[in-house]
Amino acid sequence: MQRLIPVLNSDHVPLHLISVINTLLTAAKEISHRLHQGSLAGTLGSTLDENIQGETQKKLDIVSNQLIKTMLLETNLVHAVASEEEDDVVMGNPDARYLVAFDPLDGSSNIDINSSVGTIFSILEKPKHPAEGKELFLQTGDEQVAAGYILYGPSTMLVLTTGQGVRAYTLDHRVGEFLLTVDKLTIPEETQEFAINMSNQRFWAKPMQAYIQDLLAGTEGKRQKNFNMRWNAAMVSDVHRVLSRSGIFAYPADCRDENKPCKLRLLYEANPMSFIVEQAGGKASTGYERIMSLQPTEIHQRVSVIMGSRQEVNTCLSYYKSIE
Ligand code: AHG
Ligand code: MN
Ligand code: MN
Ligand code: MN
Repeated sequence: MQRLIPVLNSDHVPLHLISVINTLLTAAKEISHRLHQGSLAGTLGSTLDENIQGETQKKLDIVSNQLIKTMLLETNLVHAVASEEEDDVVMGNPDARYLVAFDPLDGSSNIDINSSVGTIFSILEKPKHPAEGKELFLQTGDEQVAAGYILYGPSTMLVLTTGQGVRAYTLDHRVGEFLLTVDKLTIPEETQEFAINMSNQRFWAKPMQAYIQDLLAGTEGKRQKNFNMRWNAAMVSDVHRVLSRSGIFAYPADCRDENKPCKLRLLYEANPMSFIVEQAGGKASTGYERIMSLQPTEIHQRVSVIMGSRQEVNTCLSYYKSIE
């Protein structure tokens, strides 16, 4: 089985970018180790702190954030980092080329129930125009040079794109290396499975209400087929299932809190996952626009997310076109 670095070399990925990715994976191996230790590592449970997102931080949210941030900045190859768990961007080497946005631990409410969580990262280059601080990261998803996630499940996996398709690697704990296990990951175009938090149903806008109602109607409704539902409550593992066996994943806008209509973050979650999904032949949209075409105005910006099997996403989007 091939190791990660020779694969990236044969794809002609620039050496410094390979080093940045490899550094993220060194941090991920440490996070994977701490997760496996569970209570033995003394890092389960919550802190008394809240992050900029208004969420109570888990101890492992903070540990993972510190590990990734420190290791990236130590490489001297990173100009700045932005994280779900940091209020502002953190500056690194002024002469370096790469910017890294990350969700250090995705699905962190799953930590205390010994269930799957992940790390998501998005790598950009310093923009050509003069920019400082947060402005550096206000680039569309199309500008990403690499994106990936690490899924800490029964096995630890890396799913990565550098814009040349998607590959999946599995961590061999005995040798501490990610080995290539899927060479060309593609999402089947059609599906009979959906992933959405149904408890928010009454708060969704009309198009999503109508679409899900037709899925639930099964063979008796206009879709004339039955749909299964799954929800792991960690975007990484829900989207990984979609990439592995088809599906549609959605966290649409809702009206629970008028100041916070969307949950998922554009820079740390939606853009990197959209890059992977599109590179695997799938589709990613807000309902009205392609996610990766959005011009961010704020680093912690949130966005409505619908992604997965191309035909099923198109069917869902047809409800957004026809229903106000
Ligand atoms: P995070 O743990 O990084 O804050 O992200 C949690 C997100 C995402 O991973 C998941 O899809 C969603 O929250 C789950 O939301 P619900 O609690 O509404 O199910
Ligand atoms: Mn969070
Ligand atoms: Mn997340
Ligand atoms: Mn997180």
